[in-house]
Amino acid sequence: MRIGIIGGTGAEGRGVASRLARAGVPVLVGSRSIDRAREASERVRAGDGTLPVEPALNETVLAESDIVLLAVPFASASELVTVQAARLSRGAILVDLTVPLRFEGGVPALVRIPEGSAAEHLRARLPPEIQLAAALKTIPATLLGRVDAPLDCDEFVCGDSSESRAAVIDVLGRIAGLRLHDVGGLESARTLEGMSLLAVTLNKRYHVRTARYRVVGV
Ligand SMILES: NC(=O)c1ccc[n+]([C@@H]2O[C@H](COP(=O)([O-])OP(=O)(O)OC[C@H]3O[C@@H](n4cnc5c(N)ncnc54)[C@H](OP(=O)(O)O)[C@@H]3O)[C@@H](O)[C@H]2O)c1
Repeated sequence: MRIGIIGGTGAEGRGVASRLARAGVPVLVGSRSIDRAREASERVRAGDGTLPVEPALNETVLAESDIVLLAVPFASASELVTVQAARLSRGAILVDLTVPLRFEGGVPALVRIPEGSAAEHLRARLPPEIQLAAALKTIPATLLGRVDAPLDCDEFVCGDSSESRAAVIDVLGRIAGLRLHDVGGLESARTLEGMSLLAVTLNKRYHVRTARYRVVGV
């Protein structure tokens, strides 16, 4: 099982790569530039040459990963998906991490999306044979990147099918300190993106960068 990250050079992509690699999951850190991918891979390794991390162009990530995490800004995600989705290897699962956040005068809000969420917006632009899930939308990049800090939180996976959700949960569930929940079809991404906005609002309100969710009672 190999995980590829489109936009693996950004804070979120590097953070997820860092956690997955330390859980022993092979990761391709993707970029539009192989030099940026190499630099990001070195940052993910942080001197540990034994970690299963490799740099790659986004095209290679799509063709050679079993699960592809989409960690680019929402504004560029739909064009990227429309142009590049055909490169995805057969049976691979695409996982949307994007949150359509905007800031107006420093106040965070969600971009209004006719389909209801970023994930559903992407679904509408993907061929039906490509499986789409959404995950890791509510966890802050800052925390993911600090690999010595415990995550100690819950995350949520929604998607087209129970099989794709189970596959994503199986891999992401290997990350230490992270408990994954299957929250059903892609329409749940509306809630998850709203929760992400709430986490950002809490961060601003309390001058922290690590607000996240823990579910009790289940
Ligand atoms: N930051 C967080 O705490 C957080 C939390 C949850 C979810 N997310 C979501 O995760 C995604 C990534 O967040 P981030 O903060 O890491 O974003 P970012 O740093 O702004 O972008 C990530 C990477 O996307 C690539 N990229 C930028 N513009 C692109 C374009 N037009 N076409 C193709 N690739 C492009 C860049 O990689 P190359 O230039 O190397 O190709 C960049 O390093 C966002 O959608 C965000 O909403 C973020």
